[in-house]
Amino acid sequence: MTATQQEAWVDYYRGIYAAGNSWLDCSNPRVHEQTFGIAIEAAGPICGKRILDIGCGRGQVALATAALQASDVVAVDIMSESIEACRARHPHITWEVGSPEDAEFCQSLGQFDIVFIIELLQLVDWRQALHILWDRVSPGGRIVAIVPNEDNPIVCRTIARFGGAYVAPNPAGLMELIEQLPDVDCWAYRGMDFQQDQRIVPYATSPWMTSIIEGFSSNRLVVVISKNGCGDQ
Ligand SMILES: C[S@@+](CC[C@H](N)C(=O)[O-])C[C@H]1O[C@@H](n2cnc3c(N)ncnc32)[C@H](O)[C@@H]1O
Repeated sequence: MTATQQEAWVDYYRGIYAAGNSWLDCSNPRVHEQTFGIAIEAAGPICGKRILDIGCGRGQVALATAALQASDVVAVDIMSESIEACRARHPHITWEVGSPEDAEFCQSLGQFDIVFIIELLQLVDWRQALHILWDRVSPGGRIVAIVPNEDNPIVCRTIARFGGAYVAPNPAGLMELIEQLPDVDCWAYRGMDFQQDQRIVPYATSPWMTSIIEGFSSNRLVVVISKNGCGDQ
């Protein structure tokens, strides 16, 4: 992602943030909070773990993991307004302004048992970001990402709208990238799709999958990449 594209995203999210919604993409709280629930389920046990929430927005996942007794929580976003407000309100969490494309900055954060990347990878160079963030995962730890799926027709329209500034992966692209990462123990993904009847929850989730499924075109992908090591996950 170029510096200009990154600046454009900062302006875009600044505008949404100023409007005061909890969900920074103008969706709704039910979609937002089910997304967090799905991410936390995918993380496995959180108590005693060191957590990074990158692209944290208003910091809800960081706060939820701290409440679940993570040992340390670091939350990062490129939008300084949100980070400054969170820092003032929630000093038990470390809040930093930065980007997953900045390897030196990410290295300065240390190592983590769980790295959450929720609705961010499409806004950055996702291949570069995953390489950089994988380096931050401790042995036995994992990345949990939720990201739009390039193979979904609605996502395709968003990609067309934002041009080169919005680049979503698909399962085949993720698999190709993950094969290049060192020390991968296993990885899996599942889909999230809006239900016709959303009275209970907006999204239906598919089973976890470990291979490329022809015709799979869920709107969102939940991706877990787990690292070899002595963790208890
Ligand atoms: C769709 S919102 C998701 C926020 C949060 N993860 C959530 O699920 O509520 C995307 C977030 O990514 C942040 N962002 C955009 N580009 C970024 C970058 N290069 N580095 C870090 N954060 C970035 C935005 O400021 C915004 O807070």
